[in-house]
Amino acid sequence: MTPNSRAIINLDIEGPAISRHIYGHFAEHLGHCIYGGIYVGEDSQIPNDQGIRLDVVEALKGLNIPNLRWPGGCFADEYHWKDGIGPKAERPSMVNTHWGNVEENNHFGTHEFMHLCELLETEPYISGNVGSGTVEEMSQWVEYLTRDGDSPMVRLRKENGRDEPWRVQFWGIGNETWGCGGNMRPEYYADLARQYGTYCRDHGENKLYRIASGANVDDYAWTEALMKTIGDIGCGCRPHNYFQALSLHHYTFANTWQDKGSATEFDNDEYYRTMLNAQRMDELITNHSNVMDVYDPKRRIGLVVDEWGTWFNVEPGTNPGFLYQQNTLRDSLVASLHFDIFHRHAERVVMTNIAQTVNVLQSMILTDGEQMILTPTYHVFEMNKGHHDAASLPVHLSSPGSSRDIGDQTLNTLSMSASAKDGRALISLTNLEADVARTVEIDLRGGDFAIAQSRILTAARLQDHNTTERPAAVAPQAFDGVIRDGQRLTVELPAHSFVTVELQVRTAD
Ligand code: AHR
Repeated sequence: MTPNSRAIINLDIEGPAISRHIYGHFAEHLGHCIYGGIYVGEDSQIPNDQGIRLDVVEALKGLNIPNLRWPGGCFADEYHWKDGIGPKAERPSMVNTHWGNVEENNHFGTHEFMHLCELLETEPYISGNVGSGTVEEMSQWVEYLTRDGDSPMVRLRKENGRDEPWRVQFWGIGNETWGCGGNMRPEYYADLARQYGTYCRDHGENKLYRIASGANVDDYAWTEALMKTIGDIGCGCRPHNYFQALSLHHYTFANTWQDKGSATEFDNDEYYRTMLNAQRMDELITNHSNVMDVYDPKRRIGLVVDEWGTWFNVEPGTNPGFLYQQNTLRDSLVASLHFDIFHRHAERVVMTNIAQTVNVLQSMILTDGEQMILTPTYHVFEMNKGHHDAASLPVHLSSPGSSRDIGDQTLNTLSMSASAKDGRALISLTNLEADVARTVEIDLRGGDFAIAQSRILTAARLQDHNTTERPAAVAPQAFDGVIRDGQRLTVELPAHSFVTVELQVRTAD
């Protein structure tokens, strides 16, 4: 018989803060993410506010999404922001060469995006164009958005109906500049990042957090080339730093990049390979962080995982350039596993953005005309909301028997993380075993507690997913598998399940 897993959590010994920005999002001009998924136009029958669909806004507000990255992705490096301002009828069109070669009419532009952020009460994260843009163009976009008083770009903004500047903190200096964003070599891009970073000015009180286009998966040489150029990070001897963070992209698929596997039809072998690929995020962050530590031992430069999530073959019959995929219980476990990893690396990982919010890759929401469903992944984001801006609580886990050898690698099939905030603690547990339940004994030390709520996300099959006919096939339920005995909680985790346990806590401090 497999022994129980044992965990110890010290309620009174806090680790680094988990930034709410770890729960960030990403919406690109790709397929039906923006057009149809978020923006339907003012004349649509679908209830909207200045063209932005209200059902989607309302659903996303349920996640308290902290930031939203836009306009790409690969699209960002062929996007020219001045084409997306002013009267819609006069906006020039372009071809979206990366995603389906479709015509982009620029009806969703800067003002529409900033309005969306206001509706969502979320912070904008704008990805500027390095690949096919200019320093002047990017510099003027920052001025247009954030400058107060009077200047050429301020006058242009006011002509377009917006007097007050917006607050924009997060600014991406290009996207995947090693690939779709210009196919650059690392040293060349490192210099461009410094150049563009220099001219992305802080206007007035608006302070930019500049995010350089970082590595693809395990390209540690890329991270090193950028870190070598960081310049002054703290001595105060330069007017400002060129960039405050680097990004990292890693997607999870089941098979190979060429054949990523079906989103809904997979066997257990394919499932475990997917999870192994998701678990790789831990190794990638550790190794990139080690490289960064050499140049930045005090960890002032952040790591921003601004694209992560599952990438499977598109749904049969859909445009291959639109990256539309269904979302099963498997996707939700990929998400919960990622969050445990991000929580553990909270000292370095300051932000992440799942790809993407609506109708593309690992979405929160799928729309079909006027209909809309929440995916299993949505529910993980919602169940984990208590971790936003909470202090991480390290989990000391001993879990014999909860691993699987897959080829020459090992998948840990039990994952946990915990945090505390405002007299509450949240414990998240994921059992990745496809068919085996697991008992976890958690010793809670350093404080009194009461169980406030336990919830579970699971389904009969890993392949189960939500559809317009069965929108709640995979949805959180109250969970009665948590038993308290003194300072110990025993959690009976069913196979392929995600559980959250929320506690009211009183510590000596
Ligand atoms: O998220 C889809 C695409 O994946 C993004 O546009 C690009 O940055 C990445 O390759």
